Amino acid sequence: MSEVCVIGVGHVGLITAVCLAKLGHSVIGVDKNAERIDQLRRGQCPFYEPGLEDLLDEGLQRGRLSFSQRLSDGIVGSEIIFICVGTPAVADGRADMSQVEEAARAVAQHMTGYKLIVEKSTVPVKTSQWIKRTIGLLNRRGVEFDVASNPEFLREGSAIHDFMHPDRIVIGVESERAKQLMLRLYEGFDCPILVTDISTAEIIKHASNSFLALKISYINMIADLCERAGADVRMVAEGMGYDARIGRAFLDAGVGYGGSCFPKDVKAFAALAEELGVDFGLLREVDRINEGRIERLMAKLREALWVLNGKQIGILGLAFKPDTDDIREAPSARLIERLLRETDVRMKLYDVKAMSAMRELYPPDERLAYVDSPYEAARDAEAIVILTEWDEFKKLDLVKLKSVMRTPIIVDGRNIFEPDHMQELGFEYYCMGRKNIRNHF
Ligand code: UGA
Repeated sequence: MSEVCVIGVGHVGLITAVCLAKLGHSVIGVDKNAERIDQLRRGQCPFYEPGLEDLLDEGLQRGRLSFSQRLSDGIVGSEIIFICVGTPAVADGRADMSQVEEAARAVAQHMTGYKLIVEKSTVPVKTSQWIKRTIGLLNRRGVEFDVASNPEFLREGSAIHDFMHPDRIVIGVESERAKQLMLRLYEGFDCPILVTDISTAEIIKHASNSFLALKISYINMIADLCERAGADVRMVAEGMGYDARIGRAFLDAGVGYGGSCFPKDVKAFAALAEELGVDFGLLREVDRINEGRIERLMAKLREALWVLNGKQIGILGLAFKPDTDDIREAPSARLIERLLRETDVRMKLYDVKAMSAMRELYPPDERLAYVDSPYEAARDAEAIVILTEWDEFKKLDLVKLKSVMRTPIIVDGRNIFEPDHMQELGFEYYCMGRKNIRNHF
């Protein structure tokens, strides 16, 4: 079993730490955020992720998992050091690598014996080389070390499952010693393990995320086309998906992708291509299409309500996707912002997990109310907008919902209901790339 340090216990770092502890490794998570470290020591999760609290508890109980605010605590006793710090986007889309550099400098300062430094954050190609150079320059004692890239493919909301049952493990290394250490870490995993050079591993991660984002933007354009042509994007996606070369996954049309990864990664990959002199305009287009989804949604609201001013709207779904409380780059935040800026609409907001995060971003006031059920969000509303496909919304009592609304209009940004069924129930139903039900003209 290995001694592992994880620097940065955000989403990727914390999942990595608890899962490696579950696998039997001895793991210490380090983070500058003192409050977060205290919380974790008490067994409290800083964000919602199914199954995380149990694994955190188990790791702490068994003594395989510990947390510290001090980098030296983590670095000295560990052979493998994962760098999982944030790489936020700066104005031109490039990733800000200062936290990665800071971690590398700390490793150089505190390492006394051989270390394998592994970057797991989504980073531009050549980051490992920069980490290597940084450590090399500061490594006065001449301690041996290797760098590696081991990109993470987990999704929020199913992160534990994705970590424990990956489609593949990618390991970018440049020495046999590093390769063996990484293979030992992942011993027992029943999936392809791809060992590559470091730049290839780094590109695999960016290329995968950008390709998935591309699929989403592609199907969103097909959705617009379907609406004009009177076709059904769900059936189109199904028809395309049966082709094994295409696959059905990530062909759900809607309000576009959000979260902390795709929007940032597509921009960063495009900026990187530009930096390397490669004209990858396709990625700019993927991003442009995604940015344009909010216009589609606004247009649909106007189509449904004509005049927005003076109206009341219920918003169901604030998280950027189900099973998470994350609202980073969430379509909901964009819509709220637009409605606050451009109209005097009043909104009642409801989400299963993301209410407190949104409350921090947009505190309640006379135009924004946070309510504790979908039916409360619907009460007296002229329309409901669905922005996250939570299971709870799919199981709504639609008759009850309709009975509390002022006018029975649903704008569904996630296509969770069947248009024909909604028609039978007497709703006006506006969805994405499928038949819109409009009862009155
Ligand atoms: C994504 C990738 O799926 C992970 O493999 C990767 O590890 C992660 O980024 C990362 O780089 O850390 P995540 O952002 O958690 O994971 O969420 P996804 O499930 O990929 O969804 C991203 C967005 O795309 C969501 O807003 C979702 O609603 C949207 N989406 C997804 C669609 O609009 N249509 C789809 O068909 C699928």
